[in-house]
This record gives sequence, C-alpha cells and structure tokens, in this order.
Amino acid sequence: MNLLVTGSAGFIGFHLCKKLLLEGHKIVGVDNYSDYYEVSLKKARNAILTKNENFSEVIIDINDYEKLDKIFKENKFDKVINLAAIAGVRHSLEDPFIYEKINGMGFLNILECCRHNNVKDLVYASSSSVYGGNDKVPASEEDTVDSPISLYAATKKYNELLAHTYSHLFGLNCTGLRFFTVYGPYGRPDMALFLFAKAIVAKEPINVFNNGKMERDFTYVDDIVNGITLAIKNPFKNEVFNLGRGETVQLTHFIELIEKELGKQTTRNMMPMQPGDVSKSLADVSKAKKMLGYEPKVSVEEGIRNSIKWYKEYYHV
Ligand SMILES: NC(=O)c1ccc[n+]([C@@H]2O[C@H](COP(=O)([O-])OP(=O)(O)OC[C@H]3O[C@@H](n4cnc5c(N)ncnc54)[C@H](O)[C@@H]3O)[C@@H](O)[C@H]2O)c1
Repeated sequence: MNLLVTGSAGFIGFHLCKKLLLEGHKIVGVDNYSDYYEVSLKKARNAILTKNENFSEVIIDINDYEKLDKIFKENKFDKVINLAAIAGVRHSLEDPFIYEKINGMGFLNILECCRHNNVKDLVYASSSSVYGGNDKVPASEEDTVDSPISLYAATKKYNELLAHTYSHLFGLNCTGLRFFTVYGPYGRPDMALFLFAKAIVAKEPINVFNNGKMERDFTYVDDIVNGITLAIKNPFKNEVFNLGRGETVQLTHFIELIEKELGKQTTRNMMPMQPGDVSKSLADVSKAKKMLGYEPKVSVEEGIRNSIKWYKEYYHV
C-alpha cells in the first residue's frame, strides 16, 4: 500500500512506520518536528526510518493546507494514518490555543485532503482521555464520552465527531483508536516512564500524584502498533476502538519496576491530584478483539525491561 503517516517522527508514528516498512509498504511520513519535547529524539527516530528506501520524509505542518494538499495530489495515497498532534494532557492547560490549532484545525485539514483527493480510508489517533471523569471501569466504547476534563481530551473527542461527520457526508471510512498510556523504547520524555527514569538516575525525588493512588492501563507500543496495523487492514465506515492492555497497574508498582531495571532507588514526593488527570484508566478491549483481532501480548514487566534497556543505551546511562 501507498500510505501517509502523519506524526511519523513521533513515538508511536516511528514504531508504526518501522513495522509497515518491514511489511513492504511505501510510506510518506509527515512531521513538523514540533519542539514540544526534544527534537533530537525525533531526528534519531527519523534517521532510522530514512534508511529504508520505501520511506520518504516531508517536513510540513498539517496546518498548512496548501502544502498538505500538494503531498496528497502527488502521492495518491491508498490510506492515511493521522497521528500528528500535541499529545500531553497537562500542557493543554497551559497552552490551549496550540491544541485547538493542531489537534482541531490540523485534523480538519487531513479530513478535507482525504475528501478532495479520493482517499477512502482514514485511521486516526484518539485517546483514552475522552473517557474524562467517567467513574465506570473498564471503559467501553459504548460509554458516554461527553465530559472531557482537559482541553486535550476535548480535542480528541472533537476529532471523533468530525470523523463521524466526514464518514456520513463524504463516505470516508474512519477508524479512531483510543490509545491507553503507551510506553516503550524511543518513548516520549514528557511521559511518566522516562520522567521517572531520569529522576531515579539523578537520585532526585519523584513527584507521585494523587499520593500514589493512581492506576493506569499501560500499553506497550508493539501492541498498539499491532492494533493500528489491524485497523489499517480492516476499514470500517465509522468506528472507534479502545487499544489498551486491558489490565491496570498501580503507579507505585510501575515505579518499583523501573527502579529494579535501573538498579537504583529514589524517594517519592507525594503530591495531590493534578487538574485534568484521572486516577484510574482501564480499557475494555473486547470490541477491538472481536472486530479487529487485536490481542495485546506484552506484560508490564517485559515492557519496562525493554524500555529501560533502550533508555540506558540511548542516554548512555
Ligand atoms: N503516547 C500515548 O500514550 C498516547 C495516548 C493516547 C493518544 N495518543 C495520541 O497518539 C498520537 C501519537 O502520540 P505520540 O505519543 O507518538 O506523540 P508524539 O508527540 O511523540 O508524536 C506526535 C508527532 O506529531 C508531530 N506533530 C505535532 N504537530 C504537528 C503538526 N502541526 N504538523 C505535523 N506534525 C506535527 C510531532 O512533531 C510528533 O513527532 C497523538 O495523536 C496522541 O495524541 C498518544
């Protein structure tokens, strides 16, 4: 297939492109190297991808409609996978405008380019954060998601609404994937795993929110990539799927596992709950299992082992 992957220099985009290239697909990767976190990591990921001649990189902003449309016209994509976004929950409280611009308007540009360039299938990143303040766990796609508690979550819910509209009006097949806390090698430095690893190595205290009473459905990136690949191969008119591991891990246990792999320990700063955050996330993955054949495989122990091994090598710890 001839594919467009946006956010290809990002954490999930990089792993997805690697897998799709191994399968022999041709990929145009779009990224603007946003400086939301260290650009050198994005360049390192991209350097690996560009070794494959079936990968070509285009550095543009998905907000630039004319340039984006030109890429679509030149390449005649079979399918489009949109992962480009500003991803952090907490940062959306500080800079809401950029979320509206990239996650909102940028996504509309993708939809319009698909519409006007005869693309039939779109797979896009949504997020577990759409479940917002819902108390019910595990979270199911049938649950109401009208109560986002961060601007980031609101933009992801907005993406799902727009996708529904474009599917209905223009026959664009849209599959939204609600990822649950993804981690793994080459992961984002702003997320818990590598924030903790950095602090443990430096023997600095770790900020543990909600006094440690946090549980997350941590999902290893290879499982997420398998789920995305299945969604690419099985288009639906308009669906959303949870992609999680389907198990919760206590944050305190997660930290202990990182300490074990690093062979070091540090102290904890017990902190209150942060605005915009949720105390527990857990995916009901039965829909993805049934309709996509999704089967998460990697335990948190194995996932952290792989991630910390990469961390030590990459950052010369
Ligand atoms: N990592 C997670 O746990 C998680 C959970 C839920 C949802 N998601 C979603 O999955 C997607 C990928 O997340 P990630 O963790 O790989 O994040 P990431 O920040 O590593 O990747 C996003 C990529 O998009 C690029 N980008 C940002 N704005 C752009 C723009 N205007 N034009 C072109 N490129 C742009 C960035 O430079 C980055 O390389 C995002 O949509 C995110 O919201 C991630």
